[in-house]
Amino acid sequence: MARKPTEKKDVPTTGHEWDGIQEYDNPMPRWWVWVFYATIVWGIGYTIAYPAWPLINGATPGLLGWSSRGDVAAEIQKFTDMNADLNARLASADLTALDDDPALKNYAVQYGRATFATFCSQCHGSGAAGAKGYPNLLDNDWLWGGDIEAIHTTVTYGIRSPDAEDDTRMGDMPAWADVLEEDELANVIEYVVSLAGGEHDTAMAEEGKVVFEDNCTACHGDDGSGIRELGAPDLTDAIWLYGSSREDIAETIRDGRAGVMPNWNTKLSEAQISAVTAYVHQLGGGE
Ligand code: HEC
Ligand code: HEC
Repeated sequence: MARKPTEKKDVPTTGHEWDGIQEYDNPMPRWWVWVFYATIVWGIGYTIAYPAWPLINGATPGLLGWSSRGDVAAEIQKFTDMNADLNARLASADLTALDDDPALKNYAVQYGRATFATFCSQCHGSGAAGAKGYPNLLDNDWLWGGDIEAIHTTVTYGIRSPDAEDDTRMGDMPAWADVLEEDELANVIEYVVSLAGGEHDTAMAEEGKVVFEDNCTACHGDDGSGIRELGAPDLTDAIWLYGSSREDIAETIRDGRAGVMPNWNTKLSEAQISAVTAYVHQLGGGE
């Protein structure tokens, strides 16, 4: 049933009129006005209690001292406290005996995976498969050794790391461009290709073998299978750190190589280093 509008002759109009329709100047309902005032009071109170007004550096802090960073810090602290015991055990653990403590090992590998994602994946790849110049950590081919202690040393002190000069792993692949004659270079490149089973010129490789024996075996071993103490890679396994093409191999021999891996003892905690070591060790199958 349609309601008839009540006539409100005494209500003033705004003076607006369109097409015979006048606009009354009715006051807002009381309840609405009070709710409106309440929101203003609430708003002012809120900006006093909580961080609100932007300043040049940051914002007014608010009387309650609350911050979202504080919330995150408290959350992180909660987990740190929860894991403090495990981290202390991990930091002092004998890593070679980690397999005897499955709970600790499980924790180490999980923690190590997160650490790897944050600190190592930008060079070694998120799946640890590496890239040119950055070794693949999934295979069982190691420049410096793949048992858990060797990995621990590598991670702790790095490789050719200028920040850990006295402790870092050292060993250089010299540049041969100015040392060997052009034909010697060409021949030794053929020999290196032949070592890994690549297609090669037999006569040149024969000559290259002599060059290799004179110049390279001190670091790469008599049979070219590498010497870990020097970080000199196995040249017979067809796993290439710096690329498998003849051009890549020629560049390595002519210009030399010196891959740098940072030392982590100044950036990660002892527990983190042990954790990421345990993680990397189980990736490669673990020597
Ligand atoms: C800035 C790049 C970079 C970062 C970051 C980095 N690495 Fe490396 N890493 C390298 C390079 C380059 C090498 C190879 C050095 C060489 O040629 O001997 C290497 C070598 C290694 C090796 C030795 C592999 C072998 O075959 O012996 C291990 C283990 C390793 N890294 C683990 C890690 C871990 C764990 C982290 C994170 C905590 C990490 N790396 C972070 C660049 C990096
Ligand atoms: C003083 C020690 C030393 C001598 C001598 C030496 N190398 Fe190396 N070689 C190394 C080291 C160390 C590396 C690894 C460099 C790195 O990891 O950055 C290497 C890397 C290489 C690589 C790269 C392998 C890959 O997986 O990509 C080739 C190829 C190579 N050497 C060939 C030779 C040849 C040929 C000679 C002789 C003409 C020679 N090297 C002499 C130490 C040596």
